[in-house]
Amino acid sequence: MAHGHEEHGQHQQHEQDGHGHQGGHGRQGAAHGHHHDHTDLDWVALIPHLESNAEVYRPLYTQALDWLRAERPAGTGLIVDAGSGPGAVSRQLATAFPDARVIAADPEEKLLTRAAERAAEAGLGDRISTLRVELPDAIDALPSADLIWAARSLHHVGDQRAAVAALAGRLAPGGTLALVEGGLPWRCLPRDFGLGRPGLQARADALEEDWFAAMRASLPGAEPDTEDWAELLTDAGLTGATSRTFLLDLPAPLAPDARDLVVELWTRRREAAAEVMAADDLATLDRLLDPADLRSLHRRADLFLLLAHTVHTAVKPA
Ligand SMILES: C[S@@+](CC[C@H](N)C(=O)[O-])C[C@H]1O[C@@H](n2cnc3c(N)ncnc32)[C@H](O)[C@@H]1O
Repeated sequence: MAHGHEEHGQHQQHEQDGHGHQGGHGRQGAAHGHHHDHTDLDWVALIPHLESNAEVYRPLYTQALDWLRAERPAGTGLIVDAGSGPGAVSRQLATAFPDARVIAADPEEKLLTRAAERAAEAGLGDRISTLRVELPDAIDALPSADLIWAARSLHHVGDQRAAVAALAGRLAPGGTLALVEGGLPWRCLPRDFGLGRPGLQARADALEEDWFAAMRASLPGAEPDTEDWAELLTDAGLTGATSRTFLLDLPAPLAPDARDLVVELWTRRREAAAEVMAADDLATLDRLLDPADLRSLHRRADLFLLLAHTVHTAVKPA
């Protein structure tokens, strides 16, 4: 679990989005004959979480997609959502770009099936299709896209540089590659929330950094690379690399779906960190997760959700 070159505070961002911790047997293990360990991911089990996550984060995605649409005045015909998961954000892409067709692309068949079902339910079945794609290879089946959106998926690819280059190669001239990676870790309570030792959230973030480093190191073809997204985009032959960060600011009192998400995020952290977290912090976490406790996450009125996601974009020269 050694790592530590994470100057950007990016990794917590990924874990909060529902990755890992649960020790399921993920695609990497199953498909590549790797050993299973606590960093394997069970994406199928994560479908409900990925969907509720996308719903709660909708205000953030709306801002990000509005910005992206304004950056593309010439219009957008075909969008690829690379690493789409169950396609919750693919549907938001289809809404934000009403003239575009969207391909939800992911290695996980069951997630794609879900994406297709939900697109049909939303009346978007004619505009959203699915394609099995695993970065960085086997993406030749992707048609030339005007916009490729890869949100929190690149960091699950061992060789992120190769993945960025592969995606850049599938862009039409003038097309935009948009990577959602990094930002700021989530906060849901003040530093001192009246239980246990102040600073629990920052200490939990630090443990997640370690988990994230171990997850990345265990990926097939893992290549350490600095997470300088602008450089990776530029090295892939794209121009005008730009980063913009979007805030999710849900103040107290939280709506039930956001509260449920916060409870789930801490539940995952509790499972992942049980062996490494300090005993007093575990005891605090147990109180936070106990629905019978008046100061738990389930009941407290001061719970909020605050975080930021960064979108890194660059354009293929026409
Ligand atoms: C955290 S989820 C993000 C899903 C979605 N983009 C979102 O923002 O809600 C990461 C997704 O990356 C996909 N993924 C993992 N490895 C991948 C690879 N090598 N190529 C493409 N996608 C991959 C997973 O199957 C999963 O659906």
